[in-house]
Amino acid sequence: MAWAGGASDIMNSKWSGRRYAAGALALALLTGGLRGETPATLDADRPRRDELRTTIAHHDALYFKQAAPEISDAEYDGLKRELRALEQAHPEWAQAAQVGDDRSGRFATRAHGGRMLSLEKVYTEAEWRVFHAGVARRLGGAAVSYVVEPKYDGVAISLTYERGILVRAVTRGNGLEGDDVTDNVRAIARLPHELQRQLAGDDPNPIPERVELRGEIYLTDAEFARINARREAAGEESFAHPRNLAAGTLKSFDPGELADRELSVVIYGWGEWRGEGSPDSQQAFHRLVRAWGLPGVESYQVAASADAGWAAIQAFARRRADLGFPVDGMVLKLDAVAGREQLGESDQTPRWAVAYKYEPERVVAQIRTITLQVGRTGVLTPVAEFEPVELGGVRVSRATLHNRAVIARRDIRVGDFVEVERTGEVIPAVVSVQLARRPAGTKPFAFPAQCPSCGDGLTVKPSEVAVRCPNPACPEQRQRRLEHFASDGAVDIDGLGPGTIAGLIREGLIQSAADLYRLKPENLTGVAGLGPERATQLLGAIDRSRRAELWRFIHGLGIPQIGPVNSRRLAETCGSLADLAEWDEARFTAVVGIAAGRSAAEFLSRPENRAELRALIHHGVRPAAPRLPVAGPRLRGKVFAFSGTLPTLTREEAAARVRAAGGVVRESVSGATDYLVVGKEPGAKAGEARRLGVTVLAAEDFLGLLGDD
Ligand code: IVH
Repeated sequence: MAWAGGASDIMNSKWSGRRYAAGALALALLTGGLRGETPATLDADRPRRDELRTTIAHHDALYFKQAAPEISDAEYDGLKRELRALEQAHPEWAQAAQVGDDRSGRFATRAHGGRMLSLEKVYTEAEWRVFHAGVARRLGGAAVSYVVEPKYDGVAISLTYERGILVRAVTRGNGLEGDDVTDNVRAIARLPHELQRQLAGDDPNPIPERVELRGEIYLTDAEFARINARREAAGEESFAHPRNLAAGTLKSFDPGELADRELSVVIYGWGEWRGEGSPDSQQAFHRLVRAWGLPGVESYQVAASADAGWAAIQAFARRRADLGFPVDGMVLKLDAVAGREQLGESDQTPRWAVAYKYEPERVVAQIRTITLQVGRTGVLTPVAEFEPVELGGVRVSRATLHNRAVIARRDIRVGDFVEVERTGEVIPAVVSVQLARRPAGTKPFAFPAQCPSCGDGLTVKPSEVAVRCPNPACPEQRQRRLEHFASDGAVDIDGLGPGTIAGLIREGLIQSAADLYRLKPENLTGVAGLGPERATQLLGAIDRSRRAELWRFIHGLGIPQIGPVNSRRLAETCGSLADLAEWDEARFTAVVGIAAGRSAAEFLSRPENRAELRALIHHGVRPAAPRLPVAGPRLRGKVFAFSGTLPTLTREEAAARVRAAGGVVRESVSGATDYLVVGKEPGAKAGEARRLGVTVLAAEDFLGLLGDD
């Protein structure tokens, strides 16, 4: 337990009553006196923590901005110590608790060439200034310049490229050795497996003999929301935090999970560097990362003083909510490598870098009422409603309570004070209840037996936590299905937002997506919010959408487990909506795997869904299909890999052709590979293929196999 040492320090020092209370609680936790979810008693420390943070911030401002301190340094240090002790007694407060050792025992382990260090953390402006003063002092008055970068909230990774080829991906582990997750990392679509040697017209990039690139694997906000939305629709419990989901996926052995969850990666540093091109500054490193074609940090700033560093931290914090990926702070790194070498490192952390950690984006709110939101697949999500509060720069008045089981397990009631956190999802989540503040007279929440929208009796499938409205004609389900259909991730109909959809349903003009394509100008007079001009624009947008890409319609149908990625795969293979309706389970599973294939077959076997497809076609929906040859049965299930440049096709085109013919494309060569297609200047894969006895195809043979001349 990482905080065990902290707890005994607490017990050994001279403590005020309050500090001792924190120690006692930590001891109770250590001895197993309190178990399970965050106990209500622990929450009692939170007001004191908040008070300490506010007081310290106040004194920081007096000291640094006005040079007029009100308390002695010793008193100030006492406040800081008390806060630190409280935080140590509450490991659950640490937003991105440091993983001491992530080795799981399920993967082979690999030693790192250069140690993977952690970062010293600061939480206040004052602490940052103290850090900077230390750096400046140690550098003996030399100019100090930092690169200020976002601190990605994910899982640390070390990628080894040998002579420009990705050969290994290893987790931090204990800093000296970690889990070898190479195969899983190779599945990350946007991570090049080869460093780009030269950009058009540029000088050649240095390609070191061997380099360990350090970065973070994470999930974007959109991908996290998509995965959770799908789980909720499937009646499964949603994931609480994108970092944990990224970590779980990175270490998954389930190929379906890996294929479906789109991990992202960012490169922000390096370990061992053998051979050419070792950068002399962080800025030079960022430029090199870009030139190699690797994903670098979203942005960075250069700060040449403590003030500038603090300004950069604040400027970035304002953008935090709009970044689209989880960030839990900023990292400030000495730019010059020479300075880094002068400073060296302490036990676990370099002396030349520091992480400024944000407060977790959490607020307390009192639940005014609990409403039930009906999703497009009929799953009911309970939502806590409260007076608007500010959370991470946005006003929020609702937070998800996930499902009935969560409410029951935590005994969440109307009137309760709850903590609400932004977890990377669109709607924030209730993360805990302050039982100590529960007002008198509250009652356990009685989950209704009828759908709030249509009044039908709610159902629960065995082995699922989700409560569903079974009525496909339920107005709220219809509304959500149409919102999904028109959304920019699906058919993308401009001007058809939730309000307009609600108006059209209310007027009895539409029930399903196909009805949109029957609308005439005269139908729209009298629909609230649709003046003549907007009505014309809307009809134009609907008309144009008849020719949207096929995958958008497939996604828009809202088939469980068929998200944008699977929709594209289906579109590449099937060619039209009419063909899709004729597919059987075997064809679906050949393209999208067993679970998603079964789900698609089940969805399209239902009469109401078949009728909807027919109606869409009948009303003139003719999606643009990707023009690709139809599958030759020889390639079904065949596993392909590529190496080198092909004369007539890009890598993406070649991969699309293979998939369209029912085959599968993998980045690396393994025993499971059927064909390695080699073009000009093949890399190390060719040798590997020969060693494994994999059939090696020249480009012409490959085109022949696809049925081209
Ligand atoms: S530099 C020796 N830069 O935060 C310094 N780390 O708590 C190595 N992290 O272990 C880290 N974004 O997993 C660095 N821009 C960034 C980062 C970053 C996220 C993570 C990384 C590190 C942890 C430290």
